[in-house]
Amino acid sequence: MDPKDFRNCMGRFATGVTVITSETGAATHGFTVNSFTSVSLDPMLVLVSVDRNTKALDVLDDNNFIVNVLQDNQQDTAMHFAGRTQDPEPFEWEQGELGKRIKGSLAHIECKPWAAYDGGDHVLYLGEVKNYVYNEGNPLLYYCGKFSEVAAT
Ligand SMILES: Cc1cc2nc3c(=O)[nH]c(=O)nc-3n(C[C@H](O)[C@H](O)[C@H](O)COP(=O)(O)O)c2cc1C
Repeated sequence: MDPKDFRNCMGRFATGVTVITSETGAATHGFTVNSFTSVSLDPMLVLVSVDRNTKALDVLDDNNFIVNVLQDNQQDTAMHFAGRTQDPEPFEWEQGELGKRIKGSLAHIECKPWAAYDGGDHVLYLGEVKNYVYNEGNPLLYYCGKFSEVAAT
């Protein structure tokens, strides 16, 4: 089995798009993630799968993080936090309870570290939800390696 072809297969699973933000002391680190899922309601747990080659791997180690669920008008923000940094930044920060978060997102889920597990070339970080807020709007989607939007009904 070929890993690149497996990626194509997994691309058939449509997801939303998030940016995970964490405080590093010096600054706020953010990176784009679509491997985000809810795990448990009691306690409230969520999961993000982090590539071992990212800076985020060390940032998330035993650290609070905020899941910013992006709207369909935040594609530039998704690219900014996926290595295509833009100047000026295509978003504004706002203060959350556990750190800075991206203003205008569809939802914010603020987490304290719960556990980390080996996930092969990724690490699975579970966070315990300490605060959440959500708004009305349309999500940014990711499907077959491209951004997409929910079709109007
Ligand atoms: C739509 C999309 C989804 C992504 N999902 C993930 C993911 O789930 N996990 C991950 O580690 N990287 C993911 N990435 C890649 C990271 O966003 C990218 O490697 C980023 O530059 C890492 O930043 P850092 O090295 O500053 O932490 C995704 C990128 C895009 C565009």
